[in-house]
Amino acid sequence: MSRNVVMGVTGGIACYKAADVVSRLKKEGIGVDVIMTKNACHFVDPLTFRTLSKNPVVTDTFATPEAWKVGHVALAEKADVMLIAPATANVIGKVAAGIADDMLTTTIMASRAKIVFAPAMNVNMYENPIVQENIRRLKALGYYFIEPGSGMLACGYEGKGRMAEPPEIVSCVLKLLSEDTETTERKAENSDLAGKRFLVTAGPTTEKIDPVRYISNRSSGKMGFAVAEAAFARGADVTLVTGPVKLSCSPGIRRIDVSTTREMLKACEKAFPEVDAVVKAAAPADFYVVNSCDHKIKKKSDTITLELAQNPDILKTLGSRKEGQILVGFAAETRNLETYAREKIAAKNLDMIVANDVSAPGAGFDVDTNIFTLITADGRKTEYEKMTKSEAADIILDRIMELMEQKTEK
Ligand code: CTP
Repeated sequence: MSRNVVMGVTGGIACYKAADVVSRLKKEGIGVDVIMTKNACHFVDPLTFRTLSKNPVVTDTFATPEAWKVGHVALAEKADVMLIAPATANVIGKVAAGIADDMLTTTIMASRAKIVFAPAMNVNMYENPIVQENIRRLKALGYYFIEPGSGMLACGYEGKGRMAEPPEIVSCVLKLLSEDTETTERKAENSDLAGKRFLVTAGPTTEKIDPVRYISNRSSGKMGFAVAEAAFARGADVTLVTGPVKLSCSPGIRRIDVSTTREMLKACEKAFPEVDAVVKAAAPADFYVVNSCDHKIKKKSDTITLELAQNPDILKTLGSRKEGQILVGFAAETRNLETYAREKIAAKNLDMIVANDVSAPGAGFDVDTNIFTLITADGRKTEYEKMTKSEAADIILDRIMELMEQKTEK
């Protein structure tokens, strides 16, 4: 079976990493055609991509709009997946606005393939609400995004905006290429959650003290990501709202990245009316810093006082607005597990709670296993032995299915 990727390379310093992506795709036996924008040609010579892809490289430098009309259709049809890496704010904005004024954007417009962007830009550009709105808009239309990483950027700033690393980009493309066959087969085998819409939260949230410091909770996000992946694999439509974590997810999951508890609440409130079930595995920071500073606090005195105010409780807010959704919370405790867990069911109007003693070996933070007890609102309690977080995710989803069925029977 032939697998073809049409790769759009736009103007950014990450172009050098795009060359590595082409070489890795070729090693996987994938056909690659490269389209470079005019600005991309300032960073890397098209000859590099021609040599690596073993195909002619399409550039706009000498092409006329007449020439695009033919070329873009051929490439658009050839693509099983279109990958735009690096994707600048400009190309994302153009596609979001429906602009097709060069070879790359006309090909994107004409293509029915899966289209995935790997953004790369300065942190302030990435965080610009216009760019974020464009990304949201495109995600809602079914375009995929590979999250940029954080770190030192070529422009000298530190923050989010560095293009994802080539191995991550390649594994995402491979996933998309295999989805038509493998995932649909897998879904056909077990698609018991098809048609169900899930909202899953994961990871910690952070609350700013000053531009370089924050307070947060311990959480790797692994449990929430495992639930999101398992629900997606079983055919559900999944929105994943996550705090800052070092994890990636299947491109078909609608991922919304947030930093603070209040941002997480906003994203959850927006998604909540449309979903059938919520699994709230995140560990949101319970307090925010009232007297946070816009400039770095200097160590002028031995102590400083932070004034903390309580953040909204997301789960409790959703619990008070429940209209038939199944609401599942987590209780991470170090003592009196069951009592506290039952109190949380009542206080937050939950249908079920996943209670775990985070001090037990093999449960808790940054490990791939979990030991937990499920308690439902009717008082039923089931204890489980140590298992992987993805096995745990499937058990949690099985129980949610049962609760959904019970609800429809009523
Ligand atoms: N939770 C939430 N919003 C918060 C805090 C917690 O939605 N601001 C959710 C968590 O995602 C989890 C559940 O509430 O599903 C329980 O979180 P946990 O930290 O164990 O308990 P708290 O409700 O914060 O209570 P306490 O810290 O007193 O144990």
